[in-house]
Amino acid sequence: MISRSPFGDVIEYTINATEEQQRLSEFVHNTRKTVVIQGLGFVGTAMAAAVARARDTHGNPLYNVIGIDLPDEMNYWKIARVNTGLPPVVSTDKSLDAAYAAAYHAGNLTATYSSFAYTLADIIVVDIHLDIKKARLGDARAYEFTLENYQEALRVVAERITNNTLILIETTVPPGTTENILKPMIERIGRERGLDTSTIHIAHSYERVMPGRDYLRSITDFYRVYAGTDKAACIAAREFLSSFINTRDFPLTELHSPTASEMSKVLENSFRAMNIAFMQEWTEFAEAAGVNLFDVIRAIRVRPTHRNIMSPGFGVGGYCLTKDSLLADWSYSSLFAPGKHLDMSLSAINTNDLMPTHTVRLLQRVFPDLRDKHITLFGVSYLNDVADTRYSPAELFYDLCTQAGARVQLHDPLVSYWTEKGLEVCTQFDDIRLLHHDAAVFAVRHSEYLQMTAEDIHAILPNVRLIIDAFDIISDSTAEALRSYGITLLGVGKGHWNAYLRST
Ligand SMILES: NC(=O)c1ccc[n+]([C@@H]2O[C@H](COP(=O)([O-])OP(=O)(O)OC[C@H]3O[C@@H](n4cnc5c(N)ncnc54)[C@H](O)[C@@H]3O)[C@@H](O)[C@H]2O)c1
Repeated sequence: MISRSPFGDVIEYTINATEEQQRLSEFVHNTRKTVVIQGLGFVGTAMAAAVARARDTHGNPLYNVIGIDLPDEMNYWKIARVNTGLPPVVSTDKSLDAAYAAAYHAGNLTATYSSFAYTLADIIVVDIHLDIKKARLGDARAYEFTLENYQEALRVVAERITNNTLILIETTVPPGTTENILKPMIERIGRERGLDTSTIHIAHSYERVMPGRDYLRSITDFYRVYAGTDKAACIAAREFLSSFINTRDFPLTELHSPTASEMSKVLENSFRAMNIAFMQEWTEFAEAAGVNLFDVIRAIRVRPTHRNIMSPGFGVGGYCLTKDSLLADWSYSSLFAPGKHLDMSLSAINTNDLMPTHTVRLLQRVFPDLRDKHITLFGVSYLNDVADTRYSPAELFYDLCTQAGARVQLHDPLVSYWTEKGLEVCTQFDDIRLLHHDAAVFAVRHSEYLQMTAEDIHAILPNVRLIIDAFDIISDSTAEALRSYGITLLGVGKGHWNAYLRST
């Protein structure tokens, strides 16, 4: 079988269950505790590194760490990469590479597809994804959701664990999932297997993993919330989390129930999504009024009560902010209060999902008819200095422009292939320079874009007529210099630039 990685490796592999079981048994043949991390995605990758790096007072590794992922074409490469000492995520965080290399040399981290690993575990950390499907953007209430696959993954765990195991759920789940759905299922299976279920401890905890330069530190040096389904689970979870998190500077917060911990996670992200959505109507107001909203926000932010007011922007993407309010809504209406919904939170999701339409409207102020216009989009990932394109706002922008007949050209310093759209992306400015450009949109605050001077931009886009700054990437002085080349500038939240458009 073959698995292709986003790094360009093509990995041939075969499955030999017996050999793999033997390899894993030998791997844990020592006195260390064994931690199995289910899911080697964004969260599992950093968790595996953080746990493998934990040391006892003599400087020896505390844990054997086994990462588990799926033996299919899309995922097997992650297993292969970990087993050569490399992280299975594209990242700019050098400490992640160092942690994988160190664990490889210490011999305390491995990866597998074999669910036999659960039989060897003292601790299982569940870092697999749980998706919710939107029927269409702008109609968040019309989501489709099932826990079926997720429960199946946990059933596989429950059918293999032994007594004295901690299961730590880190997946973002609808509040109520751990206590009302997973715990009863795990305990039922445990009883059927003759386990002493009082020794199976189940807890929930969440982190805010920030991909980028501080990716690994966002696990080890940041605040954590957790809760166990009973006192023993709380103690076990606290002990485990304290062994690899800098709890001196970032003390743990224990909540009274896993449902509270789960709610904390989805409320945190819903608050952030709401805070961003709230700015959209003010963006439109500021543009109509000829006001630079970024100046206004900077003036407000100096007040301690308003430090986290958000900025206008191109849109909201990524795996979490785009969906977590929907998971919360499902919990509210399906588990606790039939017929009740989180209307404000869902409305924020709708606003955020449709946000890129605002940039398209700005484009159409200069090019009402986008047919055959060459539009260059700078920034395809959803966040600055990361390569993650999941649910990127670039997607709606691309779709709207191409549906209107435009030709969209893509640049991103970190993304050479846009998996979700199946499109090649230029990573070099030299490749962009050779193309024709009617308009360009700067959409992501990548460091490379922030460093560009007017001369740099003009050299790449010599004949461009319109530049839209969709995320406060271009300063007023750079904009002024670009205008001297005859380029029109518009900006999301930059009403003072739009006023300039009216006078020309
Ligand atoms: N990305 C973040 O910053 C972040 C932060 C906090 C929490 N979370 C939450 O953590 C969870 C994981 O997020 P992610 O971004 O790592 O997702 P991801 O899609 O990057 O990773 C999930 C991984 O789990 C693997 N997987 C799925 N089913 C499996 C199974 N049965 N056995 C073994 N492996 C399996 C997938 O192949 C994939 O590699 C989600 O619930 C997410 O909401 C994410």
